[in-house]
Amino acid sequence: MLNDRSSLLSLLETRRSAKPRELIGPGPTATELERMLTLAARTPDHGKLHPWRFVTIAEDRRDAFEVVLREALAEDDPCASVAKHQKEHEFAHYAGQLVVLVSAPLHDHKIPVWEQELSCGAAGMNLLHAAHALGYVAGWVTGWRAYSERVRSAFCAPGERIAGFIFIGHAGRELEERPRPELGDVVRAWEPPGPRSSP
Ligand SMILES: Cc1cc2nc3c(=O)[nH]c(=O)nc-3n(C[C@H](O)[C@H](O)[C@H](O)COP(=O)(O)O)c2cc1C
Repeated sequence: MLNDRSSLLSLLETRRSAKPRELIGPGPTATELERMLTLAARTPDHGKLHPWRFVTIAEDRRDAFEVVLREALAEDDPCASVAKHQKEHEFAHYAGQLVVLVSAPLHDHKIPVWEQELSCGAAGMNLLHAAHALGYVAGWVTGWRAYSERVRSAFCAPGERIAGFIFIGHAGRELEERPRPELGDVVRAWEPPGPRSSP
């Protein structure tokens, strides 16, 4: 048990994202991907609403994904250069497995949408951890594509939105650690507020 715990702690301490464009294949096998998604779905979720979905894009759907991105780019920026369109080709074909995380909150529900969106973020984080635990590296990006109506509607129903594109593969080069916040900057011991001054 102690060993299990220390390896879990070490996983949490060593997980790092990779830039999706620097990932190399192969992505997870179908069995591994199913396991990652099962782990990711074990996420805190007020009201058991699972207000999120994982949309996997198979290798043979990458060309169609590129078409969506190029059409979205042409709409967004009708004068986009060939180089910009080439970037969409590259994005659509980054190595590894692509999972689109969709935030699917129930509007007009007693559980506030804010809480449902937090749960979606937690599901994304869980997927990153699951990928790391299975020996992969993941990278979560958004950018203009996540906010384009054309791209959104290719993945989402009305009222839903893209929370991110999560690529899962292997690191093409050694990952550098990034600076983490000083605990002093992000942790505070609460003090009760003083008496309110009268108007
Ligand atoms: C919702 C969300 C969107 C993100 N979008 C981008 C992005 O578009 N481009 C980018 O370089 N990093 C983006 N990031 C940051 C990276 O995914 C990653 O968190 C960062 O490189 C630090 O990685 P690590 O703390 O996981 O090692 C995003 C993170 C989150 C949570």
